[in-house]
Amino acid sequence: MGKPATHSRDYIFTPAIRIFHWLRALAILVLVITGFYISWPFLVAPETNDTQVQSILRFAHLVFGFVLTAITFVRFYLFFFSRNDIERRSFRDVMSINSWIKNLKSYLWMGQLHKQGVYGPLQFMTYVAVSFMALIICITGLVLYANVYHLGMGGMMWDISGWITAQMGGLAWVRIIHHYLTWAFCIFVVIHVYMAVWCGIRFKHNSVDSIVSGYDYHKADH
Ligand code: HEM
Repeated sequence: MGKPATHSRDYIFTPAIRIFHWLRALAILVLVITGFYISWPFLVAPETNDTQVQSILRFAHLVFGFVLTAITFVRFYLFFFSRNDIERRSFRDVMSINSWIKNLKSYLWMGQLHKQGVYGPLQFMTYVAVSFMALIICITGLVLYANVYHLGMGGMMWDISGWITAQMGGLAWVRIIHHYLTWAFCIFVVIHVYMAVWCGIRFKHNSVDSIVSGYDYHKADH
């Protein structure tokens, strides 16, 4: 007879969640870099316009902008309707004050974090906030798009864009909100990567690896 297993593994992330996670990561990286460049095109010398740098980067921004928009909608759908309910189950912890206290204490090295789903309550609410941030940056992006490209899809979105622009207090505000949210994404990504690595070490669970492989390896008694 072999030794008893010291570790076990749980299947936590479906291929769809993993693929969309990394596609979104790539899209956000490209969008932040190209977005800041659109905002301040520092590579173009003032005395020449004989260069395509700005238009190529704007094109990349739009391609990845539409990729992010599509993923944002699909992820909202999957959260509610995926056959795997591991994300939805986390909501039970959000509704329990006890789980919040356990969550916050565990971050201060007091006790373990036992989750009903895949995310802790603070993590869950952070992702809800980020999902809405993504929704708003996509909507403001599409409004900016409709104001630059008046034909095709831009034209189709013209009326609704006008309405959204009015609700946001004018086109300048649409741009400013789009820009400020870029900074919110920058701050989120730094904290997100830090927490992913830190939680893996703190709770001895696979954390970063699981969004690649789908599996959470951990000690049998954790
Ligand atoms: C994480 C996602 C995104 C980030 C970080 C981002 C970032 C930015 C930034 C910093 C700017 C420059 C704003 C300024 O002038 O100060 C910008 C402009 C723009 N973005 Fe985004 N963006 C994102 C998503 C999108 C999406 C989803 C779309 C549309 C599909 C989009 C379309 C545009 C357009 C059309 C402009 C204006 C270009 C112009 O000035 O002509 N963006 N973006």
